Amino acid sequence: MHASSTRVRVDLGPRSYDILVGSELLDRVGRVIADLGRTTQAWIVSDEHVAPWYLSRVCDSLKECGIRTDTWVVPAGEPSKSLETAAAGWQSLIESHADRGTVVAALGGGVVGDLAGFLAATYARGLRFFQIPTSLLAQVDSSVGGKVGINLPQAKNMVGAFHQPIGVVADVGTLRTLPPREYASGLGEVVKYGMILDAPFFTRLEAEAEALLHQDAEVLCDVVARCCRLKADVVEQDEREESGLRAVLNYGHTFAHAFETLTGYGVWLHGEAVAAGMHCAAVLAAQLGLLSPEVVGRQAELLRRLGLPIHPPKLSPQEVVACMMHDKKVRHGQLRLVLPTEMGHVTLVDAVSPEQVVAALHAAAEREFAS
Ligand code: NAD
Ligand code: GLY
Repeated sequence: MHASSTRVRVDLGPRSYDILVGSELLDRVGRVIADLGRTTQAWIVSDEHVAPWYLSRVCDSLKECGIRTDTWVVPAGEPSKSLETAAAGWQSLIESHADRGTVVAALGGGVVGDLAGFLAATYARGLRFFQIPTSLLAQVDSSVGGKVGINLPQAKNMVGAFHQPIGVVADVGTLRTLPPREYASGLGEVVKYGMILDAPFFTRLEAEAEALLHQDAEVLCDVVARCCRLKADVVEQDEREESGLRAVLNYGHTFAHAFETLTGYGVWLHGEAVAAGMHCAAVLAAQLGLLSPEVVGRQAELLRRLGLPIHPPKLSPQEVVACMMHDKKVRHGQLRLVLPTEMGHVTLVDAVSPEQVVAALHAAAEREFAS
């Protein structure tokens, strides 16, 4: 069966690349990389959950195109985005005789993508990098835009680079083996795109929530491709997060990071925290008179239908605000938050007071907006 696919172009001058979205695409990875030229070896990074399902298929497809493969499999989960794992990766690269003909390929979720991209950015002052994202979050977000990095014990994503891939193949068929909670978590980021950039897309998500939950391949391909297009549009205008535009992608994330930190990493999945964070941000926007309660209700209802939480975790609101003050957007000790003003549009609001955030946290915990 020949797989159909959609191509999304990320236009970044000499760093431009295509994202191929479709089902049953893994067998085409070799051809796609070979067509980009100059590749003699693929050094493939995967994790212990993903490798047993998909690594041999990807290796076979590369070998069929005359590309030598070496593989490096790391434990699944956030702890692999560490300096220790990166050091082991550099060692493995040297043992694999990686050189300018090598492409570092990431086969996995955002953890594998961020780690492999970091190794590609740093080894031998930069090797070419290719993304084969297998989680929904990685397909709609982390594989696009070139942010790569690892964590420090004190701070997530603190050491890294902007290193764009030379291509991305997102095979939505791989999502069938993704644990349901991880899948739902990715849907949180999907809803985010509708809220921040695309009102008709949000309406489509409302109409097709059931099909999305059942992973209807056609709907899923369209949705992933649309999210990639929306993220690419932002990245094309603010590749290195200099103008502030790229910050719109952080809608709900200032609350979410505080929820993740204070509940302990891993208790809430990222997309779950983002869902509750978006609800808090929308409630806050409504309290500030920026957003109609009807939009708050629509967002809450869609998140709920997709199996995502909307109420913040049971934490002290004062503690949440203190944690939010560590956000990179804080300026002169004042919180700046990405808040929605209408469906499909957000704005960066300066100088939000701790009292306003505390009030929103109380309201988001207690009361629901009727749609
Ligand atoms: P993840 O990589 O840990 O994947 C989630 C879990 O699903 C893991 O256990 C993984 O092994 C498993 N998995 C992935 N694909 C699977 C499949 N097809 N079948 C079975 N199991 C599968 O987490 P994630 O949610 O994909 O990504 C989160 C990471 O992404 C975080 O480290 C975050 O900082 C990063 N991130 C980066 C960017 C960026 O722009 N670079 C953006 C958002 C998030
Ligand atoms: N996930 C946020 C960004 O890529 O900028």
